[in-house]
Amino acid sequence: MCSAYGPPEVVRIDEIAPASLGRGQVRIAVEAAALNYPDVLLVAGEYQIRVPPPFTVGSEAAGRVVEVGDGVNSVAVSDRVRHTGLVGAFAEQMVVSAAACTPVPAGIDAATAAALGVAHRTAYHSLRSVAALREGEEVIVLGAGGGVGLAAVQLATVLGGRVTAVTSTPAKRAAALAAGAEAVVDRGESDLRATLRAALPDGADVVIDPVGGALAEPALRTLRAGGRFVTVGYAAGEIPRIPLNLVLLKDVAIVGFEFLGFMTRRPEDARRGDAELDALVAEGRALPHIGARFPLADTAQALRALADGGAAGKIVLDIG
Ligand SMILES: NC(=O)c1ccc[n+]([C@@H]2O[C@H](COP(=O)([O-])OP(=O)(O)OC[C@H]3O[C@@H](n4cnc5c(N)ncnc54)[C@H](OP(=O)(O)O)[C@@H]3O)[C@@H](O)[C@H]2O)c1
Repeated sequence: MCSAYGPPEVVRIDEIAPASLGRGQVRIAVEAAALNYPDVLLVAGEYQIRVPPPFTVGSEAAGRVVEVGDGVNSVAVSDRVRHTGLVGAFAEQMVVSAAACTPVPAGIDAATAAALGVAHRTAYHSLRSVAALREGEEVIVLGAGGGVGLAAVQLATVLGGRVTAVTSTPAKRAAALAAGAEAVVDRGESDLRATLRAALPDGADVVIDPVGGALAEPALRTLRAGGRFVTVGYAAGEIPRIPLNLVLLKDVAIVGFEFLGFMTRRPEDARRGDAELDALVAEGRALPHIGARFPLADTAQALRALADGGAAGKIVLDIG
């Protein structure tokens, strides 16, 4: 529970009465939940949506349906499902709308299913529908060791792109290469623009940016004419200010991706992308890399690990 806004350490385990089940809702016995950077921001009270404390933290989980409310036909008791929302996932049980549950494909474990909800879909929709990535194009992924970034490396490769990954630690470099990156660049390079130019002498076609800060402009400058820069998040803690003449002179586009807005405004693209991604998962070609696992009791430590950027890919809580 987050009882007051603050750093990850404010999150404590609490025993609360199980929520009652309304019409159209199901109760899930959560087996695993996955962390995303917005969890840290929500606990800090710094996310674009503020949830008043007290609240149960966590946006994505997978588990088994243990009870269904009136009017539920789409899922049944004992079905394995995953759910993506805003809060409530770091718990032994959660009560959610049946319509917001997705079946877990056979052969996919709970941790993997939980970890698919936000980062992979963000990366896939950003590449497929927003950047409209084409086979053979050059892609720069910033924050390539993080949840969204590592998913973007893997999925850009699956879509036929050639990825240059910008990341930090040796473990994250190794994870980016294992996910398909052709080249890896250290984000601590004193002249990132020159390093990217050397890696991509003809320029890049697409940038996926979940980091912002000082990394965004050098990556934007590496784009060639017709390039697309997708701004996804600001894990660096700073929203970059880009000189607009760069867009004009270089003939490139800066576009944004925001999950809920995309799902609402582009439902056809969202459905198509989710179906394509599910097929890739079923084929074993789009499984998330789980870099660290914690028990539910250590949720605060897990959030701290995420806030400090310590783990490659996804951090998961084992619950059930
Ligand atoms: N637009 C959307 O709908 C949407 C959806 C999901 C997430 N997001 C946003 O996307 C961002 C990433 O989310 P996530 O869940 O992937 O987070 P994450 O797993 O914590 O990954 C963030 C990565 O950014 C890099 N990074 C962190 N601090 C940095 C700094 N000070 N300077 C440079 N790089 C830094 C690190 O990667 P390296 O060590 O590899 O550099 C880190 O692993 C967050 O801002 C989140 O809010 C947006």
